[in-house]
Amino acid sequence: TAPEMIKVEKVGEKKNVALIKLNRPKALNALCDQLMSELSDALRSLDLDTSVGAIVITGSERAFAAGADIKEMTDNEFASTFSGRFLENWTTVSEVKKPVIAAVNGFALGGGNEIAMMCDIIYAGEKARFGQPEIKIGTIPGAGGTQRWVRAAGKSFAMEVCLTGDQVTAQEAKERGIVSKVFPVDQVVGEAVKLGEKIADQSPLIVQMAKEAVNKAYELTLQEGLHFERRLFHATFATKDRKEGMTAFAEKRKPQWESK
Ligand code: HXC
Repeated sequence: TAPEMIKVEKVGEKKNVALIKLNRPKALNALCDQLMSELSDALRSLDLDTSVGAIVITGSERAFAAGADIKEMTDNEFASTFSGRFLENWTTVSEVKKPVIAAVNGFALGGGNEIAMMCDIIYAGEKARFGQPEIKIGTIPGAGGTQRWVRAAGKSFAMEVCLTGDQVTAQEAKERGIVSKVFPVDQVVGEAVKLGEKIADQSPLIVQMAKEAVNKAYELTLQEGLHFERRLFHATFATKDRKEGMTAFAEKRKPQWESK
């Protein structure tokens, strides 16, 4: 059945970038269970779709997503959230092998910001606002907020964000390393798609290796990370695309990737 709370299309000159638009405008894209399972299903199938080289997730100009659906959670209790694995389907965004870009306008709050931070790259519109307001409703971030803010922006700033619930402007998010670039509101999605197209022009196989290697920097010690990187680098020499890339350079032509 077609999703109701997200829209998925293939965009870009070669239609090789998937654009997922969170589309529950009346609730500022609050991430209810249905929206999250539609997002999760879409990501899983796009990850397997060989015509897609990169994925962009966006919301509306008013809100990327204002967080998990508070009204849906109000009557939850510990036992059922624990045994029912509440939020288990939230991790899909961080499990996708292809590059995922968040194009953020408006509010990226609570779980909305956590989804953005699960993406590989964040582009923001000038009026975007990031934050973890959970503390104001008697809970804490549950999909990575306390961990990913620290890794991106350091402990002191992460503490401020998580303990006050204050919103962070796009410009400050960029200065803190959460966001890589800031654009005028109406250009963010277009720029994110262009970035997706640029990445999709590379070998999908090698892009996947590069993403995996960068992500290891979050999880391993420097020594282990460097070792992992070196081994994957060696492994590129077992691919046709590595041979093609270097041959094409020497022959002054564009490489033809086979993902082999
Ligand atoms: C359910 C929400 C919502 C949310 C907004 N809405 N955010 N519904 N869950 N997270 C609904 C409002 O109830 C309202 O519905 C409509 O969207 C428009 O919102 P308003 O509040 O009227 O808009 P505005 O005055 O512009 O304020 C925008 C806002 C505010 C600052 C973003 O909506 C807000 O503070 N939202 C909650 C933000 C938040 O606390 N997020 C964290 C959630 S907890 P009606 O029907 O009245 O028109 C979380 C936990 C993560 O994310 C844990 C891991 C997943």
